[in-house]
Amino acid sequence: MEELEPLLMIPGPTDLPDKVREALARPMINHRGAEFADVLGRCTEGLRQVFVTEQDVLTLTSSGTGGMEAAVANTLSPGDRVLALSAGNFGERMAKIARAFGAEVQQLDFEWGAAIDVGAVQRALRAADKPFRAVLWTHNETSTAITHDTPELCRLAQEHGALSVVDCISGMAGSEFHTDEWSVDVVIAGSQKGLMLPPGLAFISLSDRAWEATAGATMPRFYFDLVAARESLAKGQTPYTPAVSLFFALEAALEIVLAEGMEAVWRRHRLMGEAVRRGVRALGLELFGDVSHASAVVTAVRMPEGLDAKELLTRCAEREQVTIARGQGKLGGKIFRLAHLGMVNEARVLRMLEATARTLDRMGYSCNPPEALEAARTAWVEDDEVVS
Ligand SMILES: Cc1ncc(COP(=O)(O)O)c(C=O)c1O
Repeated sequence: MEELEPLLMIPGPTDLPDKVREALARPMINHRGAEFADVLGRCTEGLRQVFVTEQDVLTLTSSGTGGMEAAVANTLSPGDRVLALSAGNFGERMAKIARAFGAEVQQLDFEWGAAIDVGAVQRALRAADKPFRAVLWTHNETSTAITHDTPELCRLAQEHGALSVVDCISGMAGSEFHTDEWSVDVVIAGSQKGLMLPPGLAFISLSDRAWEATAGATMPRFYFDLVAARESLAKGQTPYTPAVSLFFALEAALEIVLAEGMEAVWRRHRLMGEAVRRGVRALGLELFGDVSHASAVVTAVRMPEGLDAKELLTRCAEREQVTIARGQGKLGGKIFRLAHLGMVNEARVLRMLEATARTLDRMGYSCNPPEALEAARTAWVEDDEVVS
């Protein structure tokens, strides 16, 4: 049988470009020396362009959740009132972190699959007897494949004197994001998503307002002290031993991403999403959630009645060598997710669709895989027509 190249099509970690893998194999260097300082400097400059910010972007050796913890612990004090907007697994996590560190959390829950209702947020902000110190949310809710209205939510937070703390872990370098233009106060990203790196780095950027807030914020912090991270960065270092190899890989990944250009990266992801949705519909499957807020980096699909999601994932990985994602939390078994994040192009997206369709067909869900590919291809054809 023909050897198939395995494809990892989950919403992080993603497959790694060869240049990134090669960078990971470079010999180790002194993390307190000039060579590392140069690497860190170039990475920080590149990250500024990805975040579209003039601020420093700090790189932490941790998974994305460490960045979320840093965001909370550096800008808030125990007892601070915060409004946590939750419409999925990661919105829940942000609220849990704030609670764990002693914030007084008012959680505004939205149906999983819905977009955060900006009107409801406005009402909650207006109704508050004591002002909220911060509003926390997820830009791209990976668990439901929905992207929330971050520019409008930032505007509302600012209008009510609250900091906007935004988890953009799965969105950064995939979904359009303008840190400064949207006045995002704290934004967090992660390495294993649009940046096509292994897991292990978190990135965080703070506005002037957020840096001012850190001065008076008293939540406990040590490893994730961002003031210490910023002071070290000015010396070309990190406070503690960094994952040096991941910084080599970050430099390589940033070269790839910035050579393409942020506008082109965002457009490519948007198009991949459109193609996947057309393919899914052509298979007669139902997209999950409010498609008017569909994510550019991941698509959630309802599992057809009577079929087992776990079996779909296992059979697709084993026979087709294509790994797609399960539903998380209360969506477990109800949906599956097709990622189009990071190292994605037309060929990879078509193979993912074909593999999914063929596996479903083998499981007894009668469908026509070539028709789905044809439907997906129309997204690129129409885009070419618009561009030319
Ligand atoms: C939106 C979002 N937030 C937070 C996280 C958590 O990141 P990590 O698993 O790197 O800690 C993820 C990971 O999938 C995510 O997609």
